[in-house]
Amino acid sequence: MNNVKDQLQRPLRDLRISVTDRCNFRCSYCMPAEVFGPDYAFLPNDKILSFEEIERLVKIFVSLGVEKIRITGGEPLLRKDLPTLIRMIHAVDGVKDIAMTTNGALLKKFAQPLKDAGLARVSVSLDSLDEDRFFEMNGRRGKVKTVLEGIEKAAEVGLQVKINMVVKKGVNDQDIVQMAEFFKEKQHILRYIEYMDVGNSNGWRLDDVVSKKDIVDKVNEFSPLQPADPNYKGEVASRFEYKDQKTEIGVISSVTDSFCSTCSRARISAEGKLYTCLFATKGTDLRELLRGELNDEAITESISSVWENRKDRYSDERNEQTIQERRKTKIEMSHIGG
Ligand code: GTP
Ligand code: 5AD
Ligand code: SF4
Ligand code: SF4
Repeated sequence: MNNVKDQLQRPLRDLRISVTDRCNFRCSYCMPAEVFGPDYAFLPNDKILSFEEIERLVKIFVSLGVEKIRITGGEPLLRKDLPTLIRMIHAVDGVKDIAMTTNGALLKKFAQPLKDAGLARVSVSLDSLDEDRFFEMNGRRGKVKTVLEGIEKAAEVGLQVKINMVVKKGVNDQDIVQMAEFFKEKQHILRYIEYMDVGNSNGWRLDDVVSKKDIVDKVNEFSPLQPADPNYKGEVASRFEYKDQKTEIGVISSVTDSFCSTCSRARISAEGKLYTCLFATKGTDLRELLRGELNDEAITESISSVWENRKDRYSDERNEQTIQERRKTKIEMSHIGG
């Protein structure tokens, strides 16, 4: 195995693979309905990587140091036969962990087949327990009740579950404590995500962000917390444990306390572009390489050189820049799934 390092000496450990650019929700901070309307041109099937192409890439990335795979979207459960892909990835030597990020709408139905196929963990997005507020935030598509049923089913079949809540000031910051209370009681890990300036469609403003400090203060007031050590080097979330119960919460603070110095994540979009940062403006077309005449060795070489040239540290730089200087044509979140 050839463990590649980038320009900042960061290894390549995590590969996040988007399996579709489509979603059955229209969250205002990700795929606002005004932009992603009925005429929006999603990718046609032949432009999306096949399971065999994804499997080939996973083998190549493992040879460069990847150990963790995360399946994302859009909404990954909209991809037909997803458990088959999980099974194929699970069979690849060297893959130590397979996780998926989902909105949970179809999770109840798929939790068991996904677990049987080798999926270990799910992160389920849920921004509020209030049906009206949640409905507003997800573009009037999804119900809290359905997502909660998906979460319970996932836990029941033995998947490790985390809940992701994007916090937007004036929209759902009023739900911070209620979410903490609910998931403490259920003993599920809840992670608060600072609202980020991903993509170009969500009209992000710094004023819309609730900081990690404010989030932790609020939860601590509800029930005292103590910091907990990261589970692994470069973990995205800062962890805290309740003092009176082993349950933890996490805060993903890309805006007020960025974590680029340990970022070992590569992302592949549904159409097979490789991105070395969530905020990238340009990707490397792996689909073209896969569908050409190149053998695995040549493709490995290309990917290796992309990683070796990587210097990305967007979130670290964000605070050093003015709004005008910030990258203008970033890849949309729905293309690379967060
Ligand atoms: P584990 O630690 O393996 O459980 O996974 P994770 O926390 O990386 O996965 P998840 O998809 O649940 O990540 C939650 C959210 O954190 C994502 O949806 C993004 O919004 C954010 N995030 C994940 N990775 C990065 C990153 O590299 N940079 C930034 N800025 N945000 C990230
Ligand atoms: N800021 C923070 N998190 C976001 N997500 C999507 N868009 C944003 C954003 N602008 C999160 C979703 C989900 C994951 C796919 O990324 O809530 O947890
Ligand atoms: Fe869909 Fe997730 Fe984006 Fe919401 S955040 S629109 S559920 S991909
Ligand atoms: Fe990694 Fe880019 Fe996120 Fe920094 S901003 S942690 S480099 S993906």
